Amino acid sequence: MRILVTGGAGFIGSALVRHLVLERGASVLVVDKLTYAGDRRSIRDCEGRPGFAFLEADICDTARMRAAFAEYRPEAVMHLAAESHVDRSIAGAAPFIETNIQGTFSLLEAARGYHAGLEAAAKAGFRFLHVSTDEVFGSLGPTGAFDETTPYDPRSPYSASKAASDHLARAWRETYGLPTLVTNCSNNYGPYHFPEKLIPLIILNAMAGKELPVYGDGSNIRDWLFVEDHARALVAAVERGQPGETYCIGGRSEQRNLDVVQTICDLLDARLPGARPRRELIRFVTDRPGHDQRYAIDPAKAERELGWSQQESFESGIARTIDWYLANEWWWQPLRAEYAGERLGLI
Ligand code: NAD
Ligand code: DAU
Repeated sequence: MRILVTGGAGFIGSALVRHLVLERGASVLVVDKLTYAGDRRSIRDCEGRPGFAFLEADICDTARMRAAFAEYRPEAVMHLAAESHVDRSIAGAAPFIETNIQGTFSLLEAARGYHAGLEAAAKAGFRFLHVSTDEVFGSLGPTGAFDETTPYDPRSPYSASKAASDHLARAWRETYGLPTLVTNCSNNYGPYHFPEKLIPLIILNAMAGKELPVYGDGSNIRDWLFVEDHARALVAAVERGQPGETYCIGGRSEQRNLDVVQTICDLLDARLPGARPRRELIRFVTDRPGHDQRYAIDPAKAERELGWSQQESFESGIARTIDWYLANEWWWQPLRAEYAGERLGLI
């Protein structure tokens, strides 16, 4: 199968591309702009493999996207390219509006033109998977979980831009017959996670003996999924999902932020004993504006209809992730060095 993957040099995209190329022998064209969050080193093991190709391009460039479709002739599109960091969207929303909304529009238009020209058999099998987030559903109270029937209620510039793109993907199916599907997934974690996000930031700061910033009182809850489980879910959605449908993907692994940070401290203390317990590095800092309190996903539909289920528990996944950062300084050290002192002041 020939698959065009946008954002394939990012965190989730690279896990997906490694899975497709190295484990499934698929033919993959990665389309990626290589923003600060994209890194070809994350897919270096795929370079040179039969069927692997890389195109450095902006999804907002519709002419280039049309040319990529015409030349590569994909049987499926897996669209992950996005600006993904909530704090950055609060500091400046423009790139989020551009890439997440305008970029998705551009890609849908390129796909629509290409799809219209396919013969019937190819048309029937073609899929456009739009990869999205649970943040489009807003914030939960103490009980319940998001599912495919939950109304949209985005509350940050990031989640509002992703919500807009979800609606575009659905509209292109209803209006033009483009066979789109949408997945909404909870927080991912694992290897190759850019060190601005909570889990890698805390691992790397704790390794270096630096302060560990916890927003507010640390009671906010996220539902964590190991990134390789997400990659398998996305492949299942392309292979077995129905166009026009939405699938919620999650790991049934709700954790308070403070508990995540303390777990990382304790696991690192066990691996690299220091003079003082790393929990002493925790600092409660000013909260994120509009900080969503709780996310949780009910993945029952994906489990039932896609035959997917997560394989990695949070306990084993977080230990694997810490061990990966301990063993792969070659990957994260240049990113920490390049982004140290930027903004947001967190890395
Ligand atoms: P990421 O920020 O790590 O990677 C994004 C990738 O997209 C990078 O390689 C970047 O270079 C590329 N990109 C950005 N703008 C582009 C443009 N205009 N044209 C081409 N490429 C561009 O993101 P991620 O965490 O891997 O998330 C991937 C997708 O999954 C996003 O759509 C995100 O909304 C969604 N998602 C993420 C999570 C999560 O926990 N990280 C959870 C659910 C859904
Ligand atoms: O839910 C899915 C979303 O998960 C994705 O759509 C986003 O692309 C992805 O970035 C992630 O968003 P979050 O905002 O949940 O992830 P982040 O790692 O930025 O923060 C996780 C939680 O930790 C959140 O409640 C904020 C908090 N936090 C974050 C940072 C960076 C801290 O307490 N301290 C920090 O330094």
